[in-house]
Amino acid sequence: MADTIRILVADDQADILDALRLLLSDEGYDVTAARSPVEALGRLEASDFDLAILDLNYTRDTTSGQEGFDLMERIRALDPTLPVLVVTAWSSVAGAVEAMRRGARDYIEKPWDDERLLVTVRTQVDLRRALRKSHRLQEANTRLQRGATPVFVCNSPGMLEVRQTIERIAPSDASVLITGEHGTGKEVVATRLHALSDRRTRPLVTMNAGGLAEGIAESELFGHVKGAFTDARFDRIGCFELADEGTLFLDEIANMPVRLQAQLLRVLQTGEVQRVGSSRMRFVNVRVLSATNACLPAEIAAGRFREDLLYRLNTVVIHLPPLRDRREDITPLAVHFLAHYSARYRKPIEAFAADALDVLMAHSWPGNVRELAHSIERAVLMADGGARAVTARDLNLPRVPRAGTSPDAHSLEEAERIFIEKVLARHDGDVRLAAQQLGMSRSALYRRLQQYGIRE
Ligand SMILES: Nc1ncnc2c1ncn2[C@@H]1O[C@H](COP(=O)(O)OP(=O)(O)OP(=O)(O)O)[C@@H](O)[C@H]1O
Ligand SMILES: [Mg+2]
Repeated sequence: MADTIRILVADDQADILDALRLLLSDEGYDVTAARSPVEALGRLEASDFDLAILDLNYTRDTTSGQEGFDLMERIRALDPTLPVLVVTAWSSVAGAVEAMRRGARDYIEKPWDDERLLVTVRTQVDLRRALRKSHRLQEANTRLQRGATPVFVCNSPGMLEVRQTIERIAPSDASVLITGEHGTGKEVVATRLHALSDRRTRPLVTMNAGGLAEGIAESELFGHVKGAFTDARFDRIGCFELADEGTLFLDEIANMPVRLQAQLLRVLQTGEVQRVGSSRMRFVNVRVLSATNACLPAEIAAGRFREDLLYRLNTVVIHLPPLRDRREDITPLAVHFLAHYSARYRKPIEAFAADALDVLMAHSWPGNVRELAHSIERAVLMADGGARAVTARDLNLPRVPRAGTSPDAHSLEEAERIFIEKVLARHDGDVRLAAQQLGMSRSALYRRLQQYGIRE
């Protein structure tokens, strides 16, 4: 039947597998069991699933959860849209927090409550179906909306200043480096800079500087001529020429291979590009914007980024603070996304219930504005048909054990503190590496270390 929902369950304990299989098959789900991470990956490669439920610990290494995390990472590489639920012992809050950080949608505590587990499963399955449909719609919309000035919601002092800076420098040709954690709005800033500049009627070309193999990246940037290499059957225009008279946005600039950085620097100095395999120089008039979530001075110190290139890119630097450091933006952003998604899904919802606002303010938003947008989209989809307000239940943000519910109940902050300590210990106290793994800037990590009294 086309509508059968397929769930993969991975656990090394036969009794847990049996219990889950019975429970889920009774509900009409088609359940496939896997006894090891290798078997789970094999199953996922062989066919399509709607949901995966994973244990974090397997026999080889039964406490750290590392095997489970590795498995999650490989699953994300295979299918980034597959929702993953993790099963953890109730005492392992830090494990659950880390799993959520790595993209798990929710977690199930062992021993579980059958009703609650089924609700969690149903929510994720419905959500996946709805999101798939909406993303197809979204793609169609973005193609139409190209060129419009993106909405930039802000209320915190830091972001109001960012908005002013954008308005002030947009009309100039200054190179702008945009920094900030994942999901803080770097692309929104780049798009706005272009849309408010005199180049707005010309193209804004985005290139992900880290996403391509070195040889391909070179021809992507500069183009190539027929015969330049084996597969080059036609001349091809590169991003620089495509962006002529317009704006070139180099995303994830820290990931650009060092050799390509040297070539980029040369083009920025001379304003001339040479297609791969051609000796002809072509003059281009391009404004360059770039973005990164890495700490470029640290990348320079490690020999992975050219200092002279940084000075070409950072005439102006716009730093976007993580959402948890600008809480005044949470409500206005939430209201903005609510209007957007209730219009898109034709729901009459126009407000947040008080408990929903509390939950939004209490959450630490490791995924920043993108996570907030996704949470509101999900809440709008999940809210009852006639509801006028989003409730805390619709938001379904990661549940954290309340104080007093178990002997070692932790608040979210406590869980975060333990988590940071663990990551720091894993990197022998190296703050740079720990910050990288946590996906936060070094200064943000330092602030937390002080806040939690881990370091002076
Ligand atoms: N100030 C804002 N106002 C309105 N929407 C915003 C704002 N900041 C971010 N968003 C929205 O949040 C989402 C993430 O933003 P964006 O893609 O710009 O982040 P990013 O910093 O480029 O992330 P990444 O590092 O993962 O590429 C987008 O849907 C964007 O529209
Ligand atoms: Mg981006």
